[in-house]
Amino acid sequence: MIKVAPSILSADYLNLERDINKIENDAEYLHIDVMDGDFVPSISYGPGWVKQIRKISNLILDVHMMVKNPERYVDEFADNGADLIGVHVEATPHIHRALQMIKNKGVKAEVVINPGTPVDAIKPVLYMVDQVLVMTVNPGFGGQKFLPETVKKIQQLNDLKNSEGYNFDIEIDGGVNNETVKQAYTAGATVAVAGSYVFDAENPASKVQSIKDATK
Ligand code: DX5
Ligand code: ZN
Repeated sequence: MIKVAPSILSADYLNLERDINKIENDAEYLHIDVMDGDFVPSISYGPGWVKQIRKISNLILDVHMMVKNPERYVDEFADNGADLIGVHVEATPHIHRALQMIKNKGVKAEVVINPGTPVDAIKPVLYMVDQVLVMTVNPGFGGQKFLPETVKKIQQLNDLKNSEGYNFDIEIDGGVNNETVKQAYTAGATVAVAGSYVFDAENPASKVQSIKDATK
């Protein structure tokens, strides 16, 4: 069964604690999308939000940095309570250093690839990561359509895990629902981010469960 990471990008910011409580007992992770208005067009929220969320949630706080040169903010996110920090390989010329910085803070390190980026681009750092995030949409917005062509990269990563003996999780993000998750799970995904599918619903917890049910 896949683990689920609801994305607060689709939650009600003025009632964030209420919305997090709705999925607190059903999800494993809480996905926090940090956008800088530069690497991606949107601006969302920063380290201060992680500090506040840490006080009210026991979920694994999964910080997805859609930020250019993320090294600038890694320490602050870690100090504010992030459990896992993801950095895009496209966002820095120093991906190895960025991942090293995350690990040095005692936080789980994740490398992220956009739909247009091949698995080859992250091969040299796969030995050092706890999780790989395969973007299944182009980052920047919630509510987009799952790109099926990304599934072969999940498969490729899963094959590398098996052949090289790596044990990172493989997370997917974008357009995930109880249908699209199936092909990704079969290919090797172990964690599913879902924003609009979960938080646009009347009963978010039931949507978390339906993603799990689809991967039993
Ligand atoms: C997109 C973000 C996603 C977003 C997913 O750039 O990284 O985490 O919240 O939203 P849905 O699940 O609605 O595609
Ligand atoms: Zn995300």
